[in-house]
Amino acid sequence: MSDKRPIGIFDSGVGGLTVAREIQKLLPGEDMVYFGDTARVPYGTKSRETITKFSVENVEFLMRKDVKLVVVACNTVSALSLDFLKRCFRVPIIGVIGPGAKAAARSTISKRVGVIGTNATIASRSYEKAIKKVDPGILVASAGCPLFVPLVEEGWLKGSVTDAVASIYLAPLKAARIDTLIMGCTHYPLLRKVIQEAMGRNVILIDSAKEVAKEAEMILSSAGALNSQSRRSRQHFFVSDEPSRFLKVAERFLKRRVTCVKSVG
Ligand code: DGL
Repeated sequence: MSDKRPIGIFDSGVGGLTVAREIQKLLPGEDMVYFGDTARVPYGTKSRETITKFSVENVEFLMRKDVKLVVVACNTVSALSLDFLKRCFRVPIIGVIGPGAKAAARSTISKRVGVIGTNATIASRSYEKAIKKVDPGILVASAGCPLFVPLVEEGWLKGSVTDAVASIYLAPLKAARIDTLIMGCTHYPLLRKVIQEAMGRNVILIDSAKEVAKEAEMILSSAGALNSQSRRSRQHFFVSDEPSRFLKVAERFLKRRVTCVKSVG
């Protein structure tokens, strides 16, 4: 059995390309439709109602592209709106929180896990609830790191300012003596080096993007819906604002040139 339809991925903007990149690496035969809501980013500062309304529209867009699976790349949407989306649509929909939380619960030895994300993700306590579901004995310490998103978008992936911001944000997590830290935002894997340096090399960093890619593979293979094509896969990128900024920042995320981004605003 094989399903040639594309995988749909959406995010509030360009950040979800960290998820697209991991899915592409793990499932190179799959076609992909990516939608970045660049006209309305950021989501991390908005209310649940607004985020859910935008997310429903984003899934509707992907449904019109006849996708076989929707991957919610955005941690904020996964934290606040995933359950609602699952109830609204018949297509399988997965988010990054569950896979990231499970990986952290597997990784921790001291049973002390940290989570960083946007303020909306952290306020929702979704990662904490998902970790406690796996093992109620795990202590979870969390911190919102809102300045990380603009730093990444500006390309400030290292340097004294980024180091200083990281050490201020991460100090309480260091004090909590965690041994595992979930990078619970699309942008944070690009700051991996800075975060690792601030936390110390004994802390394991969990990349939710990598974990959700594994979940996508598992779901498709158990449904017999992997694409068994031999031709090169196709990626289509859509954004809700004009594409020039997306194109520029996308190269940083995908580590390659991106062409052919369509604006659907
Ligand atoms: N994509 C968002 C997330 O992963 C970060 C950017 C935003 O605030 O929209 O939480």
